[in-house]
Amino acid sequence: KLILDELDKKTVIDDTRSLIIPGQSTPAASSEDQITILGALNSLLSREMIEYETHEVISHAPTSEGSQILQDGSHEARVWSVLPLKGSGTPVSPAQLKTKVGDETAKVGQGRAFKNGWVGKEGDGLVKIASEIRDATQEDLKEILKTGTLAAGEKVLADLRKRKLVVQKKGQWFTVKKGVNFSTSTAKPETDLTVDMLTSGSWKTATYKKYNFEAEGIPTSGGALHPLLKVREEFRNIFLEMGFAEMPTSSFVESGFWCFDALFVPQQHPARDMQDTFYLSDPKTSLPPNPEYYNRVSKTHEHGGYGSIGYRAPWSDEESSKLLLRTHTTASSAHMLYKLAAACRGEISKDDSAEFTHGARPTSGSDQDDGFRPAKLFSIDRVFRNETMDATHLAEFHQVEGVVADRGLTLADLIGFMRVFFKKMGIEQVRFKPAYNPYTEPSLEIFAFHPQLKKWVEVGNSGMFRPEMLEPMGFPKDVRVHGWGLSLERPTMIRYGINNIRTLVGHKVSIEGIENSPAVLF
Ligand code: PHE
Repeated sequence: KLILDELDKKTVIDDTRSLIIPGQSTPAASSEDQITILGALNSLLSREMIEYETHEVISHAPTSEGSQILQDGSHEARVWSVLPLKGSGTPVSPAQLKTKVGDETAKVGQGRAFKNGWVGKEGDGLVKIASEIRDATQEDLKEILKTGTLAAGEKVLADLRKRKLVVQKKGQWFTVKKGVNFSTSTAKPETDLTVDMLTSGSWKTATYKKYNFEAEGIPTSGGALHPLLKVREEFRNIFLEMGFAEMPTSSFVESGFWCFDALFVPQQHPARDMQDTFYLSDPKTSLPPNPEYYNRVSKTHEHGGYGSIGYRAPWSDEESSKLLLRTHTTASSAHMLYKLAAACRGEISKDDSAEFTHGARPTSGSDQDDGFRPAKLFSIDRVFRNETMDATHLAEFHQVEGVVADRGLTLADLIGFMRVFFKKMGIEQVRFKPAYNPYTEPSLEIFAFHPQLKKWVEVGNSGMFRPEMLEPMGFPKDVRVHGWGLSLERPTMIRYGINNIRTLVGHKVSIEGIENSPAVLF
């Protein structure tokens, strides 16, 4: 209102520091006042009621010590004020002075008071020698507070700065002109055309707020993908691009048979222990699998076969039928490989050979089609382990798993394949280390060089499935299957720089963090 009225009177405001803000007695010279004015200017500018230009100035403002002087007088004035006038009282000793005005003021003020000719010595004590004084420091500070500067000039200002009584501040002031929508009325401009305005005709005289095409939209409150889902999508795309088909993995509950026995994991294996595997209490047991296949598997365990001597330990039907939460997605792979071998077992026609082989042709060198079709399969899903939970382990996590079945595959195929697979994830340097899995021989652990951590970290486990697993399923002898598995959590944590799994999964996950996490690309 003040700005509009001033403009109405004068057409231009040359210097906003000359305005007198209502309620204040002096012009708005301080930088705080100018900030208040700037707020009003911007609001009027958005309605095109005014235009303004900005000017920069260096201004001065009292420090906290300066403000103290404004209130109580300078150190020298305070020293002067507590002394008796020469000849009319007992002189004050330096120690007494300290108790009267404080150490700091006594120290700084004495010298200046002497220099100004305000005080003198009488014996060992101090007395006033000027009956009246002008506290120039306080007056200068008053002027600075009011105007932001000093008429006396830069030399005095520099001295006050050196004494740490004032600081320099960058300030602004403005010149103001009328804008195209100038009016002295500050009625809020219309932001919308309403039916009422049209019927009453008030739209003709109303002022309108200018449309701001630069304004940013309100962020949408849509859903967001969890980092694990984003990384899962990356893996899925790598597999699909390499011609893999996705395995169904919806059965979290498996039997001991499919999770372990079918894979030739011995029934006494420690992984089956209650400490490592969650068993179901209700129902406790599964329906029996195909009896012929079941017999072949149990015989291979107990007595061997297919060139193996087996484990030579008694077979337990009870162990095999126990229901459990799957400990690895290799249980699903076992189901799928068994299904892939259905045509080899003569259970389905050769042409109907499993739907996931992408219509692959027989690859046998002989004329005889034994029903085998090569296949590349993958899965990414949840598995459960009875682990001690810590910063990097939970009782459930996701496994990324792939299997490739073809005639005459070798270890070199597995290694070569791994290199391509990890390269697509952006991991160029991989190393392999011999390892042990009950169901693969040979087995290899995969290590990748982590450029940030500058060390080799284990990224997966792999191997060639054993004949003791494949041949009871019905695969011809020359069919080799290699497979590998890795966790989804570890690469996700590395990608997002997370070092505690609980930041990624569980009740401590920050929703905001999930919403703002970027998509990652391997
Ligand atoms: N099942 C293995 C694991 O849990 C991974 C793996 C899959 C290893 C296939 C070899 C072959 O780590």
